[in-house]
Parts: sequence; structure tokens; C-alpha cells
Amino acid sequence: MDKFRFLTAGESHGRCLTAIIEGMPAGVAIDPEFINAELARRQQGYGRGSRMKIETDIVEIASGVRFGKTLGSPITLVIKNNDFENWEKIMSIDPKDFTDEKSFTAYRPGHADYAGSVKYGHVDLRNVLERSSARKTAIETAVGAVAKLFLKEFGIEGKSNILQIGNLTENFQAEIDRAKEAGDTLGGKFEVIYENLPAGLGSYVHWDRALDGKLARALMSIPAVKAVEIGENPLGTDGSRYHDEMYSENGKIIRKTNHAGGIEGGMTNGEPLVIRAVMKPIPTMKTPLKTVDSADLTETSAHFERSDVCAAEACAVVAEARIACVLADEILLKFGGDNPEEIKLWQKTKI
Ligand SMILES: Cc1cc2nc3c(=O)[nH]c(=O)nc-3n(C[C@H](O)[C@H](O)[C@H](O)COP(=O)(O)O)c2cc1C
Repeated sequence: MDKFRFLTAGESHGRCLTAIIEGMPAGVAIDPEFINAELARRQQGYGRGSRMKIETDIVEIASGVRFGKTLGSPITLVIKNNDFENWEKIMSIDPKDFTDEKSFTAYRPGHADYAGSVKYGHVDLRNVLERSSARKTAIETAVGAVAKLFLKEFGIEGKSNILQIGNLTENFQAEIDRAKEAGDTLGGKFEVIYENLPAGLGSYVHWDRALDGKLARALMSIPAVKAVEIGENPLGTDGSRYHDEMYSENGKIIRKTNHAGGIEGGMTNGEPLVIRAVMKPIPTMKTPLKTVDSADLTETSAHFERSDVCAAEACAVVAEARIACVLADEILLKFGGDNPEEIKLWQKTKI
């Protein structure tokens, strides 16, 4: 991302999660309650684990906003860990506090544990877990909420829907109950839809400017997302039914279908953006997977720490946030401007 950039920091059980956003224009209305509502949406959803009851994520805006509007300066967001008092010693930065309480050495299949320990040389796998955990998606959701507030200035809004949990396209809760009872977990498929996008965001001139590629990257890098699809699944459909024919009506070009999901040639085409993603089943299970202990290579069972049975609804909220960041960046790339009034000039043109 070129114009709207951000970095996040923070461990799963650390003091806090932090983000610094750079490139947000001045004068954008920021409502912390909206950000908190997005954080609450990420924490909800049927099948989430007990950790969600401990945490109620609340954002603190530590810079970049004054009297409800962005200043154009970097925005700092902080989400405190409400349970930190129970982790202060375990997550201490001081070597004198060393403890192996909560350390573990049995790799958890489906997690970053094995590759992360090889890569960074960590022996205590907690050193991998703490940052590879999806906990960091909380602060990403807060950043995405800021991007959503920017997009709202131009009438661009997003939403998501669950399409499938496990094998089922309805009765999700019963399926999640069944998996929970069996000590098992589930994945799912969801879609994210953004409306009111102007045509021409993205580009066909270079592979790294194609918007479909940027969107796929934004979703594939969410923990546990394994597939991304833009528009209708093209398999098994003839071209004559798949492509969206164009008509002329009252001097306007219209389409009667949107199988392409609003993207043609790596650019928005003015139709709603429809993007779908598939989340794998949660890898931490009450009935643990077989694994190997890195300490002595004996076979054992994977470490269990409170965990979700299914987090597809939360994942969809994270996906909305990630897409908001990509779209905010694209609006700034195409229309520039340092405040919404300047940027809105494009809405007065015929794009
Ligand atoms: C919102 C969200 C919540 C998640 N919750 C859990 C969880 O409670 N337990 C778990 O084992 N994995 C959970 N995951 C998935 C893991 O973080 C992910 O599978 C793991 O980090 C390995 O990454 P990979 O699946 O992309 O290879 C969650 C993912 C997301 C997006």
C-alpha cells in the first residue's frame, strides 16, 4: 500500500496492541464508538472461545485526531490487554523475571510453531504463538474501521455475509454445536461486498497494480484464510452465462448481472465489489492433534489453550477491515488530496 500505510505491534498476551496509520488525510470524522463497534463485531459470532469473554476491546486514539477530526498527522491506535495483570510476569521484558510457566515445546500442527521456531530459533514456542496468533487482527480491525470512516465520506460502505460453515450452507449454529461437542473445529466461507466504488481503481498496466491481486493478498494473509475468489466461481459456467453483458439505458451503461464481482482487468468497473474467502478449520482442538515435542522428539499431543471452535464470522469482519484499507489506499492513489473536500472533486466529475 502506497498512500494509506500502517504498522501494528503487540503480542497476544502483551500489554497492548498498537497501530500507527500514516497517510490519512485531514478533516475525516473519526468516531471512536464506531471503531469500538467494529471491535465488538470481531469479538462476536457463534463458536468463539472463552477469551472473548475476558476481553472487551476498546480503542484509545493516542494521536492524529483532534475534536473528532483527523489532523493529517500519523494516527496512533492502542488496544489495552484487559487481562495483562495475569500475564505481566510471563510476558515481562526484564530477564530477571524469567519463568517457564506457560512455556511449551510441542509443536501445534496447523500453526506457525514449527516453521517459526526454525526461522527465528525460538525454543519456547510461546515466542512464536504470541505474535502469530490472530489476536493481532483486533488492531487491524481498528485500523480498518478508520479506513471505513474515510470511505464513508464518499458513500462507500462494506458488509459481509457467512455463506458456508463446514459443509453446510444453513443451520450453522447446530453444526458448530456438533463440532464443539466432538472437541473438534470448523472452517467456513464468507463474502465481503463494497458498494458505491468508482470505476477505475487499480490498474492493468503492471501486475502489482492490479486491484484483484491486492485484494487477494489482503485476504490471504489473514490467519487461516486459504482461498480467495472474486465474483462468482467461474468453474462449470459457460462464458455466455458468466460474463456480464452491457446495455445502454438513459444515456448510461448498465449491467444486469455482476458475476465478475465488480472487477475487470484488475480495476473496479463501477459494480459492487464481491469477494469471497475460505477459512480453514481452527487448528487448536479440545481433542488435540498428534505431534512431536521439540525438546526430545517424543510423540505427544498438541498444546491446548482456550480457543475458538469456529471464527468465520470474526474473520469476515477482519476481511472487511483489510479491504477497507486497500480501497482507502486506492482512492488516495487515484484522486490524491489532503482533505475529503479535495478528494470529493472526483465525485463531481463523470468517472
Ligand atoms: C479471527 C480469527 C480468530 C482465530 N482464532 C483462533 C483460535 O482461537 N484458535 C486457533 O487455533 N486458531 C485461530 N485462528 C487461526 C490461526 O490464527 C491460524 O490458523 C494460525 O495462525 C496459522 O496460520 P495459517 O492458518 O494462515 O497457516 C483464528 C483466525 C482468525 C482470523
